[in-house]
Amino acid sequence: MNQNPKKKFIGTLPQKELLKLYSKYVNAPKVRFFKSFGLGVIPGERKGVIMKTLEGFKPGEPPLELYNCRTSGGVFNLGHGNPKIIQFLKDALDGGLDLGDHILLSEQRALLGEKLAELMPGDISKTTFGVSGGEAIDTAIKFSRAYTKRKGCISAIGGYHGHTGFALLTGDPSFKDPFMWNFPEFKQIEFGDPVAMRKAVTEDTACVVLETLPATGGILIAPKGFFAEVREICDNAGAMMIIDEVQTGLGRTGHLWAIYGGLYPNERIIPDFMVLAKGMSAGIYPLSTCSYKPFIEKAVFKDDPFAHISTTGGSDIGCAITLEMLKIQSDPSFLNHVIEMGKVFKKGLEEIKDEFPDLIKDVRGRGLMLGVEFCDEMFSQLAMLSIIKEGVLLDYCDNKKDTIKILPPLIVKKHELDIILSKIRSGIAKLKKIKKN
Ligand SMILES: Cc1ncc(COP(=O)(O)O)c(C=O)c1O
Repeated sequence: MNQNPKKKFIGTLPQKELLKLYSKYVNAPKVRFFKSFGLGVIPGERKGVIMKTLEGFKPGEPPLELYNCRTSGGVFNLGHGNPKIIQFLKDALDGGLDLGDHILLSEQRALLGEKLAELMPGDISKTTFGVSGGEAIDTAIKFSRAYTKRKGCISAIGGYHGHTGFALLTGDPSFKDPFMWNFPEFKQIEFGDPVAMRKAVTEDTACVVLETLPATGGILIAPKGFFAEVREICDNAGAMMIIDEVQTGLGRTGHLWAIYGGLYPNERIIPDFMVLAKGMSAGIYPLSTCSYKPFIEKAVFKDDPFAHISTTGGSDIGCAITLEMLKIQSDPSFLNHVIEMGKVFKKGLEEIKDEFPDLIKDVRGRGLMLGVEFCDEMFSQLAMLSIIKEGVLLDYCDNKKDTIKILPPLIVKKHELDIILSKIRSGIAKLKKIKKN
């Protein structure tokens, strides 16, 4: 698997030594957390849909071989080490690309901006670049405030948009309270409730920020018509509608954008802002984007073209790789593959649910973004561990812990899904035995 056998990057020290270093120099509580779950392992070699660990659960044990159904929330849409992307990166480096200079103009940003405008819903056609999802959400909220000259922001309870400035303010209290980061203008309401939304949005509201299928919130599905109503509420109040497709965009639902046909076939909503990250990197080079309708530009940049900058955001190399990724992922045959695999996966999970009705309450999602809700939090966490031990990496939703989320690489094939489903089934069957005893 090592692509360059001349130089070793993976497994330079035994796992035990690396855990000690991580604990001492990076984050000791995080190491303790993973060890308490029996998961004190470090990712090692990875290729396609498989991620190996450096060693097994105990020192010296052989590496675990895990089907990656976490994909870091959709970072690895094209699998690990996608050969086309790797070759493209090498070519781009040999071709002279580097970070570029954020203050100067950029050929790569111009080309990617044009492609995004072509792919985005409606007239969303301007893009400001960043490195992370949180940064891109911060940008969208910042620009909404500049345009509306208002401060209010409405987001969903259980939603998640990042751990940075404005993004953190949209999140749940447990994320922001320790940092004394609270402003009354930032309010959270129940996801999918149009009545609550109508009440919350006022003439002080700058923006509404929503995920389409809240991932951290439990892969929730809003009722049909909800997003159309949010659009209308925002229009009536003069507030901006920001859609966070950090996890759901780029084909995850089998449609390029969840908000534009990916949730309900005939529901195509055009927000004012669309935020992308994670998979934009093609798993290789970080990039995030905040794209918006052209009328917003003047409010931010007219008086100062440098009103928003980011040194490493929108790097030349990142933009070039993202363009290559978009060529692959916007292809209709790629999107059809996701729809077909999504049907196979959901059907398989529903069969498992029917087999274990006293453990599993619900299977939901769109395309290859699926959630399995258990009868309680304890069982979802035990299920997660049991399934990982069978060889499938996945995790639970942080703001709805009774649900595990499943996001395999979008390139996953039918025979791989069959193996993944059988491993998920045996992990849950072992849990059933615990429940009986
Ligand atoms: C829906 C959503 N939005 C935004 C973010 C923040 O992205 P980042 O971690 O790149 O800042 C995340 C991260 O998990 C996310 O899931």
